[in-house]
Parts: sequence; structure tokens; C-alpha cells
Amino acid sequence: MDEHVRKSVPRHVAIIMDGNGRWAAARGLPRVAGHREGVKSVRRTVEAAIEQGVRYLTLFAFSSENWQRPPSEVADLTFLLKHFLRSELNELHVQGVRLKIIGERDRFGEQIAAELAAAELKTSGNSRLTLVMALSYGGRADIVEAARRAIATGMAPEALTEQHFSALLSTDAIPDPDLLIRTSGEERISNFLLWQTAYSELLFTDVLWPDFGAADFAHAVEEFATRERRFGARPV
Ligand code: IPE
Ligand code: IPE
Ligand code: MG
Repeated sequence: MDEHVRKSVPRHVAIIMDGNGRWAAARGLPRVAGHREGVKSVRRTVEAAIEQGVRYLTLFAFSSENWQRPPSEVADLTFLLKHFLRSELNELHVQGVRLKIIGERDRFGEQIAAELAAAELKTSGNSRLTLVMALSYGGRADIVEAARRAIATGMAPEALTEQHFSALLSTDAIPDPDLLIRTSGEERISNFLLWQTAYSELLFTDVLWPDFGAADFAHAVEEFATRERRFGARPV
């Protein structure tokens, strides 16, 4: 069956990629080893999303609160981000992936911010999968930024609608996630897409992010297909 016409395939899957540190600790390795292994999961997951016919994949790679981690870990994560961009961009482009960044990219420094902008531009014409990378992203900051933009337009308060407000968020033009997955057994949102996940189906798995693969993604998509989404309406 054509995956794209299967109605039960989530159009947008968002993932809180968690558990890298615990994966490393379980092996007596430094945390960075877990983050390095987590990059491989990103690669596998992008491929799995394409394979399953998902059109938007949002990955929470670094939260606005993650700056509070030790400087050495922040440096490791920044290095891996830069390395990922440089080593994977061409392959992503060939696969038809359009890259979009949300979050405060400037906090990673001018060079990375420029490389991220160049990567977005290079892949802007692709349409197979939109890969949204949430970097230094915070859901509350996203909402406050949108509110600031609304105020800056000088519009009448009563003219602001939910639809208009959505378009002022960093996720403008990206449909809300149908499915939100969090790995590693933690069951919380951790300031991810607060507005956008209002009606997302939530799926928590004990699998640690570095162990997450195509089979886990396929399983999540299957689980999603069994969910009954009501959006507050009464089933007829
Ligand atoms: C997720 O793994 C990666 C980031 C948050 C950047 P963690 O680093 O949070 O791993 P745990 O939760 O400590 O196991
Ligand atoms: C959430 O994971 C952020 C990312 C996966 C990038 P954390 O590990 O930072 O979240 P908490 O601290 O457990 O809530
Ligand atoms: Mg964590």
C-alpha cells in the first residue's frame, strides 16, 4: 500500500530524544559517548521517517534549559551539532530532506548560526521530508516571542486569533505534531512544543535514545494508528 495515502500515518512526528547520558553511564562511558551514539539514531530515524511516509519530523536536540549543563557537555553537544551538519548535509539533501531550525540558533555562535542558515537555504527546495531541528528551543520562549511580534504589529487585541498566533510562532507553516514521542522512560514535555502539542498523541517509551531505531519508529507509527483522536468532539 502507498504509505502516503495510508490515513493512519502521522504527518508530523516530534521526538524528545532523551537518555543519552544514561546509555553511556550503563556502559561506564562518558556522557559524550552517549551523545555521539545519539547522532547515529538521528540518522536512522530520518531514514525511518522517510520510509514510513512521515512528512515532518521534529527533533528536540537542545533545550533552552540545556545551557545550564556543565560547559564541557555544552561544548561536546555544540561540536556534535557542527559535525552532524558538515557530515550529513549532503546526504540529507540527496534524500530530499528540507532542513528547518527552530530555537535561538545565535546562541551557538556566529559560525554555526551561519552554517545552519546555509543548510536551510540549500535544502529549501526539498519536499520529501521536512526535518525540524529544535536547537536552544523553549516552548515558552516561542510563545513569548510570538506575543511580542503580535504586539509589534500594533494590531487590535481582539483581532488576534489562534490561527494568527500560530503563524507568529517559529513553527509557522508546519502542521502541529500528530505524534509526540519521548524516549528513556521520562514522561514530561520539558518545555518542548507547548502550543503545538495541544492535541498531539503522546507516546513514552523506555528505549534510550541511542538504542532507538527503525523498528522502534515503525512500532510508534503502528501504535499511533490505534489511537482514536477526538479533538474534544463527541464521537458520533
Ligand atoms: C538527551 O540525553 C540529549 C540532550 C538533552 C541534549 P540526556 O543528555 O538528557 O541523557 P540523560 O537524560 O541524562 O540520560
Ligand atoms: C529534554 O531533555 C531536552 C532534549 C531532549 C533536548 P532533558 O534531559 O534536558 O530534560 P529534563 O531535564 O530531564 O526534563
Ligand atoms: Mg535527559
